[in-house]
Amino acid sequence: MEPLSELRKILVIHGPNLNMLGKREPEVYGNVSLDDINAELHETGNRLGFRVDTFQSNHEGAIVDKIQEIMHSHRGLIINPGAYTHTSVAIRDALLLLNIPVVEVHLSNIYKREPFRHHSMVAGVALGQISGLGSDGYILALEFLARRCQSVD
Ligand code: DQA
Repeated sequence: MEPLSELRKILVIHGPNLNMLGKREPEVYGNVSLDDINAELHETGNRLGFRVDTFQSNHEGAIVDKIQEIMHSHRGLIINPGAYTHTSVAIRDALLLLNIPVVEVHLSNIYKREPFRHHSMVAGVALGQISGLGSDGYILALEFLARRCQSVD
């Protein structure tokens, strides 16, 4: 395993339907595409001295597999589990395997929307949550994680 100080990688996981950003309910999720968001994350990561890996899947098990995969390789995780936010015990359990800070991000403010979106299965195991700040939420989460990692280096 690489020494901890050399592990300067942060993973961003985008859950189901987030591959359709830009085309999907733009009045709720905005006009920015997932590629645009990922490009900004990579750029910001470079500026902050972190490699940002991005992963999108529409499949719950694939997201669980990805979380398990990064147990020893990444310094932080940003996750927008999409609709699985509200249903997935499996994603919550997988996050409990991690010993790194996890930030939950939502483009929309889930608390202003339908009642079934008000509960997050992930919130109780994440370090924190950003909800309703659009794509800026991902960048803010990345800046936070970079700062947090630097403070424990
Ligand atoms: C979302 C909010 C979820 O309720 C929804 O199912 C999504 C996107 C958000 O980013 O605002 O797919 O996670």
